[in-house]
Amino acid sequence: MTRTAVVTGAASGIGAHTAARLIEDGWTVFGLDLAGSGLREREGFVPLPCDVRDADAVERSFAQAAERAPRLNALIACAGVLRVGPLESVSVEEFDLVFGVNTRGSWLCARHALPMLKQAAAAGEVARIVFLSSVAAIRPKIDSGVYAASKAAVSQLTRVLAVECAEHGVLVNAIAPGTVDTPMVRPVTQASVGRYRTSGPSPLGRVAQPEDIARVVRFLLSEEADYVTGTIIPVDGGTSAAFVPAGATSR
Ligand SMILES: NC(=O)c1ccc[n+]([C@@H]2O[C@H](COP(=O)([O-])OP(=O)(O)OC[C@H]3O[C@@H](n4cnc5c(N)ncnc54)[C@H](O)[C@@H]3O)[C@@H](O)[C@H]2O)c1
Repeated sequence: MTRTAVVTGAASGIGAHTAARLIEDGWTVFGLDLAGSGLREREGFVPLPCDVRDADAVERSFAQAAERAPRLNALIACAGVLRVGPLESVSVEEFDLVFGVNTRGSWLCARHALPMLKQAAAAGEVARIVFLSSVAAIRPKIDSGVYAASKAAVSQLTRVLAVECAEHGVLVNAIAPGTVDTPMVRPVTQASVGRYRTSGPSPLGRVAQPEDIARVVRFLLSEEADYVTGTIIPVDGGTSAAFVPAGATSR
């Protein structure tokens, strides 16, 4: 039996790699991302252009997915944006964008996914939500306070939704990556922007690749994770585990 997933932010980075791995595993993936982001139809992948900030557009996308597959086995909410700058000078538009995509968008998608996920759970199938939080929610940095706050909110949504959904058999977890080599962070790693710096290579000696995150998503969707809900899993090579003082090295 084919399992179905909605992956948001499916045109790039972590979302694109996660969608590809799920398709290899035999899943059908409904991929949500902005129109013009490069989504393209292929075997096992149904593109659904959608701005996840837009409540009506999200409702329409999930209705389209439900027409094809009334039961949904997973939502992986990867759509996200990063804007950097000190809290004192960040613009209202940037604040609304970051919270709109990262927090409101994740919540809107979960809201519309839940009826379909509950149907899957009631039929004895896997029913999971994986949100993308960040190391920024665990250890925030200067000049990215709005992003950190939006991801802290995602972590709290994860915990509360997990307990609210537990009786329905829908499991809800989040992954908190450190720096992952994707188009989101390349502009800010290639040229330093103000005082903002990415977390950079972890104590394991490298930045993560999207595959490092996609593998943990696969674990959270598997039967191996049947008793895991309400957790925020750092996938950061040890970045958030201990502070490395300036001039010292963890290796
Ligand atoms: N790359 C990192 O270092 C890192 C670290 C921690 C957490 N994350 C989180 O992982 C997730 C995936 O990030 P990524 O690194 O793959 O970034 P990415 O930029 O490669 O991909 C993000 C995708 O989200 C889409 N998107 C943006 N706004 C949208 C909107 N309004 N509606 C629909 N889609 C929209 C973009 O078009 C893009 O395809 C994000 O939530 C990000 O915050 C990334």
